[in-house]
This record gives sequence, C-alpha cells and structure tokens, in this order.
Amino acid sequence: MRVGVLTGGGDCPGLNAAIRAIVRCATLNQDEVIGFHHGWRGVVEREMSLLTTTETKGILQSGGTILHTDRYHPEQHPGGMDAVRRTVNEERLDALVVIGGDGTLTSASRIARLGVPLVGIPKTIDNDVIGTMKCIGFDTAVATAAEAIDRVHTTGESHDRLMVVEVMGRTVGWLAACAGIAAGADAICLPEVETDFDALAHAIVQRHDLGSTSSIVVVAEGTRVFGSRKKSTASAGAQVALALSNRTGYDSRLTVLGHIQRGGAPSPSDRLLATSFGVAAIDAIHAGSFASLISGDGISTQLVPIERVEEGRRQLPDSLLHVAHRLTVSSERVRSSGPKR
Ligand code: F6P
Repeated sequence: MRVGVLTGGGDCPGLNAAIRAIVRCATLNQDEVIGFHHGWRGVVEREMSLLTTTETKGILQSGGTILHTDRYHPEQHPGGMDAVRRTVNEERLDALVVIGGDGTLTSASRIARLGVPLVGIPKTIDNDVIGTMKCIGFDTAVATAAEAIDRVHTTGESHDRLMVVEVMGRTVGWLAACAGIAAGADAICLPEVETDFDALAHAIVQRHDLGSTSSIVVVAEGTRVFGSRKKSTASAGAQVALALSNRTGYDSRLTVLGHIQRGGAPSPSDRLLATSFGVAAIDAIHAGSFASLISGDGISTQLVPIERVEEGRRQLPDSLLHVAHRLTVSSERVRSSGPKR
C-alpha cells in the first residue's frame, strides 16, 4: 500500500511520535509512506517526500512536526478539493492519515465524503475534538502550564501580588481548567462563562480578608469579560489583571504563557497516546475502515465516524466544572455569588 500522511493546524508535542509510529507500523507491513509538508497545502501543491524509518529515527521525544504544518483548508480555496482528489489518484495513494485538530479534521471529513480513503488522528492542546477522550498534545500542555503556574505561585507569594496567568484556549477551557486545578489556582476564568470583573474582585478581596496575601488567577485566552465600561482590544488576561488591580488595590502582574504551551518534548502520556493512535491508523487502513477518526485515551483505541468532528467542539464535562467550582473561584460561581452591579 502507499499511504500519505500530513499534520495540519497548530503544532503540538507528540506529532512526531505519531508520524514515527505510522512509518514503523507501515514499514512492517511493507507499505510505503509519503509525507506531505505543510498540512493540506502540501497535498494540494504536492510538496512531499518519502518517509522511511531513517527519516523518523530519534523523533519520538521531539516537539513540533518534521512535516511542518499550516492552517490551510482545501474547501476554502477554489479547486482545493479537486486538487486533493487529483493528488491522491495520481500519486497512487491507497489512503491518507490526517493528523489535525478541529479545522484540519473538518476538512478531512468533507474530503472523505468525496470518496477519498482516509483516517483522522486527533491532536490539539485545546483537547476539544469531538469523538475522542484525549487529543495528542493536551497532556504535555497541561503539564507545561501547571509547572509555569507553580513558579508564578512562589514569586506571587513573596511579593504579596495578584498573579494573572493567561493560557491558550479560544473557545473551550480544557487547558485553563485542568492546569488551573492541577496547579492550585485560586480563580479560573473560562470561555464557557462570561467573567464579571466586579464579582471576581469581590471574591478575591474576601480571600485576602481571610488571611491570604496573594492570589493566582488563571485566564483562558477566550474568556469573555463583561463589567468593563468600554470595549477593550487587550487580551483577556490583560483585562483581568488591570480590572482586578483597579478594583482591589492589589499589585498585579500578568504572565501570558502563549506558544510555550505548544513547544518542547511530549510527555510520556502523549508519546503513548500518539504511538497508539499511529498504530491504530495503519491497522484501520488495512482493515478498510475509512472515513474514521481514531479515538482513545492512550490505553485503548476505537474508531468513530470522522463526520462526528463536524458536530462542534468537545465541551468541558460537568464533572470537571464541579471540581473547578468546589476548589477555586471559577467564573460561574463568581457570577452567582458576586455583588449586584
Ligand atoms: O492549536 C490550538 C491553538 O494553540 C489555540 O489554543 C490557540 O488559540 C491557537 O492555536 C493559536 O494559534 P496560532 O499559533 O496560529 O497563533
């Protein structure tokens, strides 16, 4: 068989582990693997190279993607979908393995409907792909963000400051909730709920009245903030830091973790997840199970119809929100307990 593989969307730790597993497993089957560079754009423009165990040696532990990536979606470019079909036919590919997040996999689902044989592998530090328990990259990003918050804790305590840490997550708060809980944040602002400056400040003052001298507020970048008099173009973290400082009188500092959360070596759990997904993808192709998404948690894998990714984004479960509400001042609790404006 000839199998094409691509990585699309934002990079994350664990992509190379998945590529390595695909190549190793395919090689055992005597399949040939063609790597497309820069995501779907590489398929359209035929930017590609042969991948063997030599090219994929020693990449299990490395961050990023040896195939490079792009946020290119064929359906948004005239002739893009036809170009993908043409490449698959003319390059005599028996299947594609598409490693991506919500956007890249939505393109994959649409392309699968045109009859292109493919399987998808979910990856994103946002952990918001529907159909799987876990996405490649999330575990490492939680560990990276939690370690950073731990470090912010000690400097915040030393200076009696209000420390605001902004983490990635434009539409869902998986990373903010998990890293915030794991690092013992005092408040977590999530995109799922609008954050009220006045109410959040009130809750922080209450904490300090009870003896705390510093607080850590974790803010997802997609947090919607209201209670501010005029619209702001500042990041959610910056708005929260300024507003809390103004309302409480406490000295505040903002740390934006940004792309640090996407960089570096994958955690052992992400290596395991990515490797199991890579093996499952090649097995699915040999079983003829196309138009599937590989789903799982690193221990077991299942196949689900890839069209499920088009249903939206995987939301935070109530169980996790419950933990956040019990142990931190989360946006929702602030809304219900804060003072009326
Ligand atoms: O890949 C997902 C993600 O990291 C989001 O959490 C973040 O909002 C976005 O990508 C950033 O994208 P870019 O790297 O293109 O700025």
